[in-house]
Amino acid sequence: MGHRKLKKFAEVESFSNVFQTHLFPEDGKVFPLKGNWKEDYFKNDNPITIELGCGRGEYTVGLARLFPQRNFIGMDIKGARIWKGAKAAIEENLPNVAFVRNRIDFIETYFTQGEINDIWIPFPDPYPGKAQKRLVAPPFIKRYRNIAPKGALVHLKTDNQELYEYALEQVNEHHYPLLCSSDNVYSDAERLGAERFRLLTEIQTYYEKLFLTIGSKIHYVEFSI
Ligand SMILES: C[S@@+](CC[C@H](N)C(=O)[O-])C[C@H]1O[C@@H](n2cnc3c(N)ncnc32)[C@H](O)[C@@H]1O
Repeated sequence: MGHRKLKKFAEVESFSNVFQTHLFPEDGKVFPLKGNWKEDYFKNDNPITIELGCGRGEYTVGLARLFPQRNFIGMDIKGARIWKGAKAAIEENLPNVAFVRNRIDFIETYFTQGEINDIWIPFPDPYPGKAQKRLVAPPFIKRYRNIAPKGALVHLKTDNQELYEYALEQVNEHHYPLLCSSDNVYSDAERLGAERFRLLTEIQTYYEKLFLTIGSKIHYVEFSI
């Protein structure tokens, strides 16, 4: 690991808005904020949105700026990436932001039934040939259903055509209600509607900017679980 990455990795440990306790529920240990995020961390009763595979946390921080009456949590395994969003939230005094560093596979360790209201998944790894590892694959949807109420929204944004088609297949196969889809977000303003178009184009992630530079189309699927 490079010197700058190591420095961020160490610094992120000290951030009050980053949680990276790795617990093993089989040891009988429970993450203290599980079921208590609103009361003990956010100190309000506002709904919580989670950003999965958040990287630098552009959606977590961007949405938190736009919606002070909601809470936002970014989750990723990479601490040096989370550093960027967590640092921005601290510098801007955003009380409605937190980050969890761990694998999304363990998401139920951190949240209880119904604690998360909706889920953003911007530019997840597409895992070609390994469908079960995709963040919209059945094992992950099962986990999300254990932390979110029925009807919770999932917002998937991707440059990857195969992942886009896979998400639509999953929607069909499992009868998830489809709220919206777009093969090319930036040329679909009318179909997406003003509010959705704004959220999808005004907040751009690090990976999205890279993909736009090389002329990739950005796809979007919104469904409920
Ligand atoms: C392609 S990057 C996208 C990052 C960010 N969303 C963006 O658009 O810039 C995918 C991110 O997902 C994270 N990731 C992938 N699978 C994960 C998992 N199972 N648990 C936690 N993080 C994961 C990676 O660490 C990486 O930061």
